[in-house]
Amino acid sequence: MRNFISMKEFDREEILEILKRAEELEKDPKQELIHNKIAATLFFEPSTRTRLSFTSACFRIGAKVLGFDSPDATSLKKGESLRDTIKMINGYSDIVIMRHLRDGAAKFAGDVSDIPIINAGDGANEHPSQTLLDLYTIKKEFGTLDGLVTAFVGDLKYGRTVHSLAKALSKFQCKKFYFVAPDELQITKEIIDELEEKGIEYELVDDYKEILKEVDVLYMTRIQRERFEKPELYEKLKDVYIISKDTILGKCKENMIILHPLPRVNEINIDLDDTKHALYFKQAKNGVPIREAMIGIALDKLNINYKEKEKNEIIFSKEQVCENHNCITKFEQTDNKIEIINGKKFCYYCGREIKK
Ligand code: NCD
Repeated sequence: MRNFISMKEFDREEILEILKRAEELEKDPKQELIHNKIAATLFFEPSTRTRLSFTSACFRIGAKVLGFDSPDATSLKKGESLRDTIKMINGYSDIVIMRHLRDGAAKFAGDVSDIPIINAGDGANEHPSQTLLDLYTIKKEFGTLDGLVTAFVGDLKYGRTVHSLAKALSKFQCKKFYFVAPDELQITKEIIDELEEKGIEYELVDDYKEILKEVDVLYMTRIQRERFEKPELYEKLKDVYIISKDTILGKCKENMIILHPLPRVNEINIDLDDTKHALYFKQAKNGVPIREAMIGIALDKLNINYKEKEKNEIIFSKEQVCENHNCITKFEQTDNKIEIINGKKFCYYCGREIKK
């Protein structure tokens, strides 16, 4: 059994093997791969693509699906904890695919569960299945994940797809990362520190226009309205970047691709949809074989040469607590675990550095 919680868990070779399994399934769909297993899709947050493509993936490999697409009709409304929900679902299904609004919820669920957990997005933290399909799309287009310049544009603070993709791409020989965002929505310190440690070239900028000529992958994102503490700030920033034929055509590399995890709001004008640069709908379609592969691997029906990673030191502390107000530790009873990495302290659940 294997969980998919964070892109931190997979190295370069393992990622390439997952993509290979997806490619094999796309060529030769294996109807009986997960015969008669039951997958639970627990979506505590809205979703269109992720839930439906996971469901489609389950059907295509022979699994049955149960679950919910909104917490409103569940016992969460009566005050049930995530711990209890997961414990109970363990008796009803063979694998859990979960989206939750709290950062670190997937890690927490993984610790509580005896069946595999696939993180379908935990708050602003991570979204590994989106990343794997992003990588699958990039690799299909360029034939490689090495040597590319990637520009992440939009809400890099709250965009979990950006966090997972930056972590994953940093395991390859990236040429450069550009993080294009207004100051208020720039990329997290944790990611910057990781890039610094790995010696990967990156630059923080607030406009995409000057860098466009260098970019291979333009990764657009929506401003994540639901995660803002101050609605006025969302109103100020919501349309900060809008790309269109006017701003892109003739100004970028011939083979630059535009990706977007979707949903888009205003950031990509529909006039770009029929250009060769627009890959976002293909990208969404690629979610199906990727998710088939993830479920197959999680349930040990498909193999990758996974190497157990060295475990970081864990300490338990009631005094030093995570300062992230959206961390799962603020909403569930946990054992106050802190992970020590290179002498620094991090919340075991949401990965935020603990300074105090
Ligand atoms: C993304 C998500 O949920 O993080 N959507 C998706 O899964 N395709 C991006 C977003 O909501 O902006």
